[in-house]
Amino acid sequence: MVHRIAVIAGDGIGTEVMPEGIRALEAAAKRFNIDLALTTFEFGSCDYYLEHGKMLPDDWFDQLKSFDALFYGAVGWPDKVPDHISLWGSLLQFRRQFDQYINLRPCKLMPGIKSPLAGREPGDIDFYVVRENTEGEYSSVGGKMFEGTEREVVLQETVMSRIGVDRVLKYAFNLAQTRPRKKLTSATKSNGISITMPYWDERVAEMAKQYPDIAVDKFHIDILTANFVLHPDWFDVVVGSNLFGDILSDLGPACTGTIGIAPSANINPEGKFPSLFEPVHGSAPDIAGKGIANPIGQIWSGAMMLEHLGYQEAADTMVKAIEDVLSEGNNQVLTRDIGGQGNTLSLGQAIAERIGS
Ligand code: NAI
Ligand code: MG
Repeated sequence: MVHRIAVIAGDGIGTEVMPEGIRALEAAAKRFNIDLALTTFEFGSCDYYLEHGKMLPDDWFDQLKSFDALFYGAVGWPDKVPDHISLWGSLLQFRRQFDQYINLRPCKLMPGIKSPLAGREPGDIDFYVVRENTEGEYSSVGGKMFEGTEREVVLQETVMSRIGVDRVLKYAFNLAQTRPRKKLTSATKSNGISITMPYWDERVAEMAKQYPDIAVDKFHIDILTANFVLHPDWFDVVVGSNLFGDILSDLGPACTGTIGIAPSANINPEGKFPSLFEPVHGSAPDIAGKGIANPIGQIWSGAMMLEHLGYQEAADTMVKAIEDVLSEGNNQVLTRDIGGQGNTLSLGQAIAERIGS
């Protein structure tokens, strides 16, 4: 069975780490006999915008909808195109139109990477943040009244639907079931936000009944952020609404060191539309063009993509290869952000070689 992958490198270091992501994917595909057909698209980048006056062609939905997955680099070049245009015109369209209602980020402290949290070792931090990606606090319901006067009023509503809440919870519980610790933590704030958050808690309690083997706890978002820093070892799968998940999904990977290695997935679990896999980092204009960006975020995103396509062993092999190369700690291979003197190519090649052997 052929898996059709749409490749969109985007801007800046996106174009530099993407070839290494592909190199690693191809090594895994070869070793595990996976039939991948990659198609590269130029749209979804600021250069495309400068040429065409839009980030995507009008028929992007039809062009992309039958792919099995999207492999994205990074988008954004604020000197050329304002960020709200480049991001809203590309990535956020994919997330919404393809109903990628799960945003998934592993937070795993890797060997050889120094956590900003004192005394933490690999094994101490190994959890997932599951963020609701389509509704909640990020709604377009609201408005402005009496603009520019003393009576100026602004209002923006949180929208939680039973379907929207239940489907993200179900995904998170299912994920917890695949993990040895079988633990789920819910982010709430039902003491302050007195309608939607108690509702969220209610739905968690209801869903928990279907998963008697999962240990469930919940924290208010304020103390939860503190506990990410103080006790990252407490967590296994953490689920949150759009806003809380957004905050936690930056804080979690930050606790595991460099932004250059963190991967993410935007998933439509039913497979009605393609899911999208991308590193957490952006286009890094400050280092773009130098060939020194860390390719691990892109490669690890590729591993998440293979896992999503059903190739668990291939995905595990890719992550293990990343771990092995990091723990060897060869300075000539590792990039500068993790203390080496190597570059994007040397690190990408070392990981691809390890995947293949
Ligand atoms: P950024 O993630 O691009 O860079 C932040 C800092 O981390 C920079 O100092 C950069 O050099 C460093 N860094 C990032 N990735 C790295 C890597 N792979 N290896 C080594 N160092 C790395 O975030 P920033 O600067 O806020 O945004 C730059 C552009 O990227 C903006 O246009 C922004 O909108 C866009 N962006 C796009 C994202 C996406 O495509 N999903 C996510 C975040 C930002
Ligand atoms: Mg964010």
